[in-house]
Amino acid sequence: MNGLFITFEGIEGCGKSTQVRMLVESFEKEGIAYLCTREPGGTQIAEAIRAILLNPLYDSMKPETELLLYCASRAQHTAELILPALNEGKVVVCDRYYDSTYAYQGAARELDEGLIDTLTKFVTYGRIPDVTFLIDLPVEIGLARIQSRSLDRMEKEKADFHQRVRQQFLSIANKCPSRYFVLNGTEDATVIHQQILTKVLSLLGV
Ligand SMILES: Nc1ncnc2c1ncn2[C@@H]1O[C@H](COP(=O)(O)OP(=O)(O)O)[C@@H](O)[C@H]1O
Ligand SMILES: [Mg+2]
Repeated sequence: MNGLFITFEGIEGCGKSTQVRMLVESFEKEGIAYLCTREPGGTQIAEAIRAILLNPLYDSMKPETELLLYCASRAQHTAELILPALNEGKVVVCDRYYDSTYAYQGAARELDEGLIDTLTKFVTYGRIPDVTFLIDLPVEIGLARIQSRSLDRMEKEKADFHQRVRQQFLSIANKCPSRYFVLNGTEDATVIHQQILTKVLSLLGV
């Protein structure tokens, strides 16, 4: 049995965690078996790597180190948690996955895309998400929304960094229209949730 693999992508503050929470609440109501997880992190080892990656004290981290740590976290997370849950037929909802690496380490940090392709195949064991929800939002709105929280190492980057991230997500969505579903993040959270739920239920054949 193969479950449905759903990922959420978008800039900081676009509403990923909000939508993940709302989707999971709907799964609870509908009695749909799911696993809710996030990147970087998701398992004990991957969460330990997350703590290194997002620590604002580590502002001297090299892009190469950052890329490899994200990939190390993803390998552990995919093998230990995501693939077994999919094999059990569960719906897996993941807050960020490898498209974030193309956006942050590829477009924003300008690391080689061919290298990211190779690493991605290696650490995902070739499993591609069935559907990716991109919540698109202007950078200034996203950054304004997260102003009041204590910012992690990635969130602290300048606006033009987040601009490159946003453009890369839109470009990937353009290249992969069958996997991507783009939502307007300026809409009300309940409106966005309805659009996501409708798509997910149709994919599940419910
Ligand atoms: N559609 C929306 N409209 C307005 N504010 C939103 C919307 N979705 C989320 N928010 C708010 O924006 C902030 C960031 O949302 P969050 O879900 O944490 O984003 P992300 O996980 O993408 O960084 C939170 O305070 C959240 O309540
Ligand atoms: Mg979040």
